[in-house]
Amino acid sequence: MNEGTCRQVIDGQDVGVLPVRLEDERILLVDQRSLPDKLEFFDATELKDMCFAIREMVVRGAPSIGVAAALALAAHGKQSAKGKSSATDLLPDLQEAGKQLQSTRPTGVNLKWAVEKIYLAADQQVKGDTKVAATTLADRLVELAASMLDSHIRTNMVLSALGSALIPENASVLTHCNAGSLATCGWGTALGVIRSAKFAGLNPNVFVDETRPRNQGSRLTVWELVQDGIPCTLICDSLAGYLMAKKKIDLVIVGADRIALNGDTANKVGTYSLAVLAKAHGIPFYVAAPLSTFDPTLPTGDGIVIEERSADEIIKFGDHSITLSNANALNLAFDLTPGSLITAIITEGGILRSSYERSIPQALGVEKQ
Ligand code: MRU
Repeated sequence: MNEGTCRQVIDGQDVGVLPVRLEDERILLVDQRSLPDKLEFFDATELKDMCFAIREMVVRGAPSIGVAAALALAAHGKQSAKGKSSATDLLPDLQEAGKQLQSTRPTGVNLKWAVEKIYLAADQQVKGDTKVAATTLADRLVELAASMLDSHIRTNMVLSALGSALIPENASVLTHCNAGSLATCGWGTALGVIRSAKFAGLNPNVFVDETRPRNQGSRLTVWELVQDGIPCTLICDSLAGYLMAKKKIDLVIVGADRIALNGDTANKVGTYSLAVLAKAHGIPFYVAAPLSTFDPTLPTGDGIVIEERSADEIIKFGDHSITLSNANALNLAFDLTPGSLITAIITEGGILRSSYERSIPQALGVEKQ
């Protein structure tokens, strides 16, 4: 399989390699652990396999995780509907499966958002029609989950077109981690804005942080940008400050895993340092994310759980130990950037600016009266 055969075209526009595809009744994930060396698929149709795939980052990036989980939950519903006549009997199974999916990675809110959306739809349909057959309900859930894949692509294209208005001509843009098609189910958010800027003729070029320890920048972002013909330069994470001081960077743009109502943003570890550096050098710092990445239950980022992953991810490089094999290491996968350091948040509902306490609830439609 080569990337050419995996790219998706929507309304005549190539939206990149989709991380998730549905084939008959199977859920196939692009195995992001093997990129860019190999483009392979991982069959995550079974619930346990999807839980493994999310935990081990076969599929990653908050929006892609959300859509993959929704598909897995619906597929699980279809499996368990086979032995049941009443749809009501399906609800406890869905609830239990949703719990298992949500326990895989704690920081990104899209996982919770997607699982709740499927469960709520099931609950509402059962309440609306107590006689609905279990198999009918399960089919509807599969349709809903599939529509979430499609709507993510369109949402990303809308927010990217809005965000490209913030990119000056010939800009040097710094990005961190991977917020492209692979992370977001098509087109991209932070990378989507850069792609839209390219297609608008703005000629951006990109500095890509390698993004230790899982190297999403060097493995995935460079891969996506090269396929799109966007000039890019890979750098060590720690070079960003010096490049800013030398005026080599015009703006920073990153994705997000969870955003609180005051703009506090959890994203890949290293994002906070970039925001501080951008502030110190007077450079705009943008976050691009769909509205499904906002957590309406959190007034501030204090309540966001930051995932801690295995120390082995930093002790080893691949299978090779790069320190003492028993070194004490702390591998927090995300950090928190205060809203006060973010110049604007680019969403499909518009470009949100400070005060975020006002603009975010308004965009989400959850303002206090
Ligand atoms: O650990 P990952 O690779 O899932 O983390 C991904 C990120 O932090 C991305 O920047 C984030 O999900 C935004 S991409 C839409």
